[in-house]
Amino acid sequence: MKMWSGRIRQPLDPEFERWQRSFPFDQCLLPYELEASRAHAHALEQVGILSSEELSDIERGLVEIGKKAESVPSFLADDEAEDVHHFVEKQLVALIGDTGYKLHGGRSRNEQIATDLRLYVRTTIDQIQGCLADWLSALLARAEKAGDAAMPAYTHTQRAEPVLVSHWLLAYVEMFLRDSERLTDCRVRLNLCPLGSGAVAGATVALDRGAIAADLGFDASTANSLDATSDRDFALEFVQVLSILALHLSRWAEEMILFSTQEYGFVSLPEPFSTGSSAMPQKKNPDLLELVRGKTGRVLGHVTTLMVSIKGLPLAYNKDLQETQEPLFGSADTVLQMLPLVTGWMKSVEFNYERMQSAADSGFMNAWAAATYLVKRGVPSRLAHERVGKAVQLCLERGCELCDLPLPELRALSPAFGEDFYESLSLPSVLGMHDVKGGTAPGQVKQAMAVARKTIESLREEVHAHA
Ligand code: ARG
Repeated sequence: MKMWSGRIRQPLDPEFERWQRSFPFDQCLLPYELEASRAHAHALEQVGILSSEELSDIERGLVEIGKKAESVPSFLADDEAEDVHHFVEKQLVALIGDTGYKLHGGRSRNEQIATDLRLYVRTTIDQIQGCLADWLSALLARAEKAGDAAMPAYTHTQRAEPVLVSHWLLAYVEMFLRDSERLTDCRVRLNLCPLGSGAVAGATVALDRGAIAADLGFDASTANSLDATSDRDFALEFVQVLSILALHLSRWAEEMILFSTQEYGFVSLPEPFSTGSSAMPQKKNPDLLELVRGKTGRVLGHVTTLMVSIKGLPLAYNKDLQETQEPLFGSADTVLQMLPLVTGWMKSVEFNYERMQSAADSGFMNAWAAATYLVKRGVPSRLAHERVGKAVQLCLERGCELCDLPLPELRALSPAFGEDFYESLSLPSVLGMHDVKGGTAPGQVKQAMAVARKTIESLREEVHAHA
């Protein structure tokens, strides 16, 4: 039986009927639909609409549906069910008879879908946070393992200054920690229960909304029935957070691709995550990284789809809202697939520290340190910059580095140059120059790693608490 037969006299156009169904994609909401239905049934019993026997029949039926969905895959191949709500009602009636129809008392699919989606996003956030904790641990472990190895840091993709490899990796740790923080924020805002909002104007039965919310692990009930039945901010916010996360993954992938080229040679691609070429026998291709970069396009597309689906909707529920589901699931699935893969990649990649180190030790990356040497000896910074620029020019003509210039020639550029200048150009002293919080001096980087370790541990505790 349809959920709305009675009013409509003519049968639905078969093509339209097929086209408007959401069950093919909203069946992933089944566990949440069952859970929310159980909580609603309890509230119905509390107000006397269900007897305690009817409640236990309904509960038994709901459990049975959940079990069957897990063990019999063809159970979900139902091309009659309009959506997940209809599917549950149909199956419940098949299992326990007409009592199954009583479950819909005092509720509307509009509040059900709003509730199911909040539960889905909440659970998915917890899953993604777990994956993020693993990914962050993998990045941090590589940072810790890098010891005092250095590499060039780039601006404009040109060698700029040397940094510790661990400092470079910690830059990614920071990005993904912010993503995790954004997910935590999003979870707090979404954790309110729409049940009891009815179709638009509130439930027709005085249900105990507080009890339903608590039963489902929500912090409270939503405040406004019009808003609650048509609000998808939580999905939008979640997908936006995922867009930033995917964007970070894509930047990371791009840099790893660059660093794996023969031109850089900093990264040796792990074979279990790379492929060969069917034509060129020598090739090892960074497919995992390229697909991460490529699939990020989908995630960014989904966020636009979602916003455009919502932007013109008057209050309250409109069927357009059904269109918010696929982009939401698509973004979540894509991110949930990518995170464990990049984690595996990161665990097995090899860094060519020798090449990184020798790149860090050449190409005038100590020029700023050289200018700072002069500044510390009273030369105004603009002039120091100009003097060292001239020295670099000399080196370029001769094909040497700053440390190869003899002292008399340096003194001709500025009398402030002294014997100790050469020591100030060494890699350890250039790195040590940045001895401020957030800088690349080894002591600072060590502290940053300890802080990151603690933050990742508390993320794991958060994930554990929500499990
Ligand atoms: N499948 C619908 C959706 O996802 C459920 C809500 C239907 N409500 C309605 N009034 N037709 O939005």
